Amino acid sequence: MDVKTDFLVIGSGVAGLIFALKAAETGDVALVTKKRAVESNTNYAQGGIAAVFGQEDSFDLHVRDTLAAGDGLCHADVVEMVVREGPERIRELFSLGVRFNRSAGEAAAAFDLGREGGHSRHRIVHTLDTTGREVERVLLDRVRAHARIQLFENHMAVDLITLSTRMKRGLITTTHEDHCCGAYVLDREADRVKTFGARVTLLATGGAGKVYLYTSNPDIATGDGVAMAYRAGATVANMEFVQFHPTCLYHPEAKNFLISEAVRGEGGILRDARGNPFMERYDPARDLACRDVVARAIDAELKRSGDDYVLLDISHRDADTVRRRFPTLHERCLDFGIDMTREPIPVVPAAHYLCGGVVTDMDGRTSIQRLYAVGETACTGLHGANRLASNSLLEALVYAQRASAAAIAEGATGGGAREVPELPVWDEVGTVDSDEHIMVAQNWDEIRRFMWNFVGIVRSDKRLERARRRIEMIQQEIQDYYWNFRVSPNLIELRNLAMVAELIIRSASHRKESRGLHYNLQYPQRDDRRWCKDTVLRRPFVG
Ligand code: FAD
Ligand code: SIN
Repeated sequence: MDVKTDFLVIGSGVAGLIFALKAAETGDVALVTKKRAVESNTNYAQGGIAAVFGQEDSFDLHVRDTLAAGDGLCHADVVEMVVREGPERIRELFSLGVRFNRSAGEAAAAFDLGREGGHSRHRIVHTLDTTGREVERVLLDRVRAHARIQLFENHMAVDLITLSTRMKRGLITTTHEDHCCGAYVLDREADRVKTFGARVTLLATGGAGKVYLYTSNPDIATGDGVAMAYRAGATVANMEFVQFHPTCLYHPEAKNFLISEAVRGEGGILRDARGNPFMERYDPARDLACRDVVARAIDAELKRSGDDYVLLDISHRDADTVRRRFPTLHERCLDFGIDMTREPIPVVPAAHYLCGGVVTDMDGRTSIQRLYAVGETACTGLHGANRLASNSLLEALVYAQRASAAAIAEGATGGGAREVPELPVWDEVGTVDSDEHIMVAQNWDEIRRFMWNFVGIVRSDKRLERARRRIEMIQQEIQDYYWNFRVSPNLIELRNLAMVAELIIRSASHRKESRGLHYNLQYPQRDDRRWCKDTVLRRPFVG
């Protein structure tokens, strides 16, 4: 075995880093991450972290806003727990050195609180417009300095190892009672698949924005954790609920740059290309309505007008205030020739966040023993059918703490690594180097395009059926290819992307109503009598 450890952590965003730091208090941690450690959705988070600190605010109000956004599918006990534990987790981050903004002229401990869509109060703790970068910086420094954490950059998990995993890769014959003993991990520099054995494994692999043609997410977001967990037999839920952020910069040279919802929180107004505000026609909360409502409104405006983008306008606010509050957004827009203090910003919606994922209990345990999932890859019940803005970093903070405590209690303490059973090595017998990179590129592009067109903001039975037929064909091709060629990072990601696309299509086709982020033209109403429940998927047992 290449590495034997107490805790294997897969992913170096906020979820993986916090779990690693806590677990390392009692055992050895191997943290693998598929590119440079800093590459994560966390690093790009702008708005901040939602939590109750304001004098006018209360736990009940934050709970109420979260439940309202979730449109009937949030688990109330989870919402209550996360909202109540949130402030303590944020104070902890602050004491680790995260430089959150403070309110001018108030007591030293008062955080400056921003506002975002769906929140009835100011409650977004932030570091200007780059909260995620600051959180990632502090946590990563701590992880790098920790004697009991070994960080493996450019190491990409390929598949989980469960006790009965067979010798031949991919032939995972889990029973649903299995427990997880680690993962196969591709060392990208050595171009070799290594075996990592662990008493406890954490999936913290983040989201899956790259399943869609247009996304706010960086390239790492290919849904690897959900795909690996599903293949291993774990329960997955609510994959139809993909959140589209209403405002990504529209510019031919901007790959995926988000314009934070905090801009609307500071008074930004959405206008059509002729300069007319339109949100009042869609929701009484206008520009601060929940994201699903705003994204659908923009989609409707674009379809009606035939325009390529709408405008986000904050030029009526004092220019110094805008520059001070959004220094990074301001500078980045200037790079593209747009001065947001003087003119509106062209924006479009883009895939942003996966509300579904690997089902966990309130301590981050999945349905496979000794496998935990935390962060965007998990489905905890907090978000329901639509995540409230800035509740994602909050969820990751709260669950990383709870999961690490549960994992430690499960007995994975120092010295335990020796108890990891001997595991089969990765078997490459019969495979050859790939000779057809074009197949990977073609299928990757095709998936992202049909997911955008057929399984996007507005869906229909016909579009979903078209998507289903296409993903079936592509899945078949990938399977044939996967068995014959040596694995590469692109092939691994394509396989995962296709798996996640299939799960989204299956879940969206199953739900015959419209709720939260799932909108189907054939069933435009919410139907509580039949559909007020999670969409649960589990891979059939393969004997
Ligand atoms: P990530 O931070 O995405 O980390 C995943 C890690 O797993 C990465 O290190 C990745 O490389 C690694 N990984 C993935 N697959 C593998 C593999 N196979 N093997 C090894 N490693 C792997 N949320 C908020 O609450 N507030 C905000 O203001 C906010 N703003 C956002 C702005 C943007 C532009 C984006 C994209 C998201 C934003 N979100 C925000 C959402 C939030 O940032 C994410 O949901 C959250 O950071 C997820 O954290 P995570 O630790 O679960 O995953
Ligand atoms: C943003 O800053 O608009 C992103 C907030 C989030 O995704 O929660």
